[in-house]
Amino acid sequence: MSNIVLVGAQWGDEGKGKVIDYLTDKVDVVVRSQGGNNAGHTVVVGEKKYILRLIPSGILRKGKLCVIGNGVVIDPVALWEEISELAAHGVKINSKNLLISECAHLVFPFHKTIDEHGDALRGAQKIGTTKRGIGPAYGDKIARVGIRLGELLQPDIFAQKLKARVKDANVVLRAFDQKPVKFKRLLDQYLEVGEKIRPLITNTVLTIHKAMAAGKEILFEGAQGTFLDLDHGTYPYVTSSNTTAGGACTGSGVPPNRIDRVVGAMKAYTTRVGEGPFPTQDAVVADLMHSMGREYGAVTGRARRCGWFDSVSTRYAQMLNGIDELAVTNLDGLDSLARLKVCVAYKLDGKKIEVPPTCVRQLAKCVPVYVEVDGWQTQTSEARSFEELPPNAKEYLRMICDLTGAKLKLVGVGQSRAQTILV
Ligand code: IMP
Ligand code: MG
Repeated sequence: MSNIVLVGAQWGDEGKGKVIDYLTDKVDVVVRSQGGNNAGHTVVVGEKKYILRLIPSGILRKGKLCVIGNGVVIDPVALWEEISELAAHGVKINSKNLLISECAHLVFPFHKTIDEHGDALRGAQKIGTTKRGIGPAYGDKIARVGIRLGELLQPDIFAQKLKARVKDANVVLRAFDQKPVKFKRLLDQYLEVGEKIRPLITNTVLTIHKAMAAGKEILFEGAQGTFLDLDHGTYPYVTSSNTTAGGACTGSGVPPNRIDRVVGAMKAYTTRVGEGPFPTQDAVVADLMHSMGREYGAVTGRARRCGWFDSVSTRYAQMLNGIDELAVTNLDGLDSLARLKVCVAYKLDGKKIEVPPTCVRQLAKCVPVYVEVDGWQTQTSEARSFEELPPNAKEYLRMICDLTGAKLKLVGVGQSRAQTILV
């Protein structure tokens, strides 16, 4: 084994929660390095369904250390809720299984208000954010007015910094016709929750390096997906962090030469939630998924947009992230189809292209070039080995991997832990 980065190869919701849960079994430490509680990782253990937002999915495996790295933005109230929910399900959190970086930035309620009203103001150009305050919190970090978790533990400094920040935030809130923040109330609320999580907060760079020095193996669990990456995604219809493989390094303090392998998670089809171009979006796939009760967001409950497998984008994702192996999830979602479409190129202004344009306006004009293949019309949810899959399903998976340019490692045929095929 080795240190693995898991990334989403599409627009998020690739079924990473399940893949992380599987990979966690093989490692010692699980690290989140970007994003915030905009993420929703669903893991089904026995009869129980867990939706993890900030806490690494590794928390559900006994004896694993989970780390929330410096690159994550943290709403401490939401974090405490998640800790309490887990405790109610018998998963006890303490400094033995969860450590949080003192350099991670805080998300405040005014970030959420600004996120929501700012996006609404964009009208037809709205991004369709999760309204969790993620963009505004990262905005503060980049503008160097953010407040970090370590400062929450120093009440005097925290009060001073928060007072200045609230004063500026209130100018914006008033412009949005929103109630200004009451400084004292917010201060008390955050200091109180700060005390609750104090034992978990530390310099996690040292934690991770100590673990590596002791020969422990690490999984970096990505949140969101490649095309939501702030730099490489369909800007501005992206999230505000680096969701591609490099984000694992900057967001945790682990140097690139300690990463051994990159695993890309992808669905056997494609989904996207929120606005922005999505070339292979197709009503046939959406109707099928939604009729089965699938593809509703884990965090916001929104119906996801659905479409065919798009090899133009996954091939680009393979290159960007250096994906060695693929975990293809939700294969069973396609079981009933007689014919499937596979996007092998785009047509832009009548010209065939095999690389997605970086400009959203051009991407929005791209028309997919499909080849059609026969479906398998056989239930795959009971299959437990690659051999047991119907021939056309095997052929489809081979096609996905050949076109994407990575080896097949794992196939998901249902939500439960058992419905995982190792290749
Ligand atoms: P934000 O991250 O809330 O700012 O939202 C920006 C865009 O990223 C929106 O299109 C969201 O729907 C999308 N997004 C953010 N987090 C996730 C996720 O975990 N899965 C899928 N889409 C996401
Ligand atoms: Mg999700």
